[in-house]
Amino acid sequence: MIPVVLASENSAATQKWLNVIRQHFPDLDAHVFDPQAPNAHAEVRAAIVWKPPAALFSRYRALDLVFNMGAGVDAILRQPDIPQTARIIRLEDAGLANPMTEYVVHYLSRITRNFGVYEQHKKNRLWQGAEQTPVQNCTVGVMGLGVIGARIAQALSALDYPVQGWSRSPKALPGIKSFHGQAQFASFLASSQFLINVLPLTDQTRDILNRDSLGQLPEGAVLMNIGRGEHLVESDLISMLDKGHLSQAILDVARQEPLPADHPFWTHPAITLTPHISGPTNHYLAIKQIRDKLHDALQGKPVSGEVTPDSGY
Ligand code: GLV
Repeated sequence: MIPVVLASENSAATQKWLNVIRQHFPDLDAHVFDPQAPNAHAEVRAAIVWKPPAALFSRYRALDLVFNMGAGVDAILRQPDIPQTARIIRLEDAGLANPMTEYVVHYLSRITRNFGVYEQHKKNRLWQGAEQTPVQNCTVGVMGLGVIGARIAQALSALDYPVQGWSRSPKALPGIKSFHGQAQFASFLASSQFLINVLPLTDQTRDILNRDSLGQLPEGAVLMNIGRGEHLVESDLISMLDKGHLSQAILDVARQEPLPADHPFWTHPAITLTPHISGPTNHYLAIKQIRDKLHDALQGKPVSGEVTPDSGY
């Protein structure tokens, strides 16, 4: 049995992981992190976490394998006490990419196929088709072409949307026009009618969606942020919407979550909000992937999804 500590900001979630482990993965000897408990588990080497409390890393000094129950590892990297030698491993898809693709297809087609218009028509008992934008005129730009971004890009391309992607390093995906690096960012933005952000949050990508970058999108563009709230300078988005340069924003994330009750996003007519639900974690698939990677790591085999210091994700 491999000892593992579970820690998250939400004890109900941690309890669910524990139940999944007890039911399906008897090779893991899991316990939930208890900040009040005496330092009884100091020898544990592996942790499964989501937004873990800082005390985990000051108490469990032997942790050298930290598995994230999500794709974005920004909340772990923010911890001051994380041991220098700890390897941090993110989820790769594990059931996240398809629901995030569905989310994108839902909101994109709501706009391009006028489904919101028909909701209004129904209220007015109006049986009338609205003019539809030809799909060729709906170029979608996907920021971030990792496992999730690539799935979204390929699904939209299969629906005949012209799709282009932008990433830190060059990527070659069939049917997807690829841009990379700072030098190609402006031309990517200038041709993205719909901009979808799934970048990881790093020092290089924090605030990347700002007055300058949003201003380079075509007039009337739509922003969909399903990455992290900190990618977006929120006041810049509001001014871009208010002056009509952007027509809409669909936001699944915010800088402060839960979004404060007095936040202007709640009442802005051009903003659609969802509470960070685009990629719900499938606990079984996530823990299965982590368990397999944990075995590989303990046997000295390479583990994919490991955060590298140069990329920060
Ligand atoms: C969700 O936000 C994730 O990073 O998996």
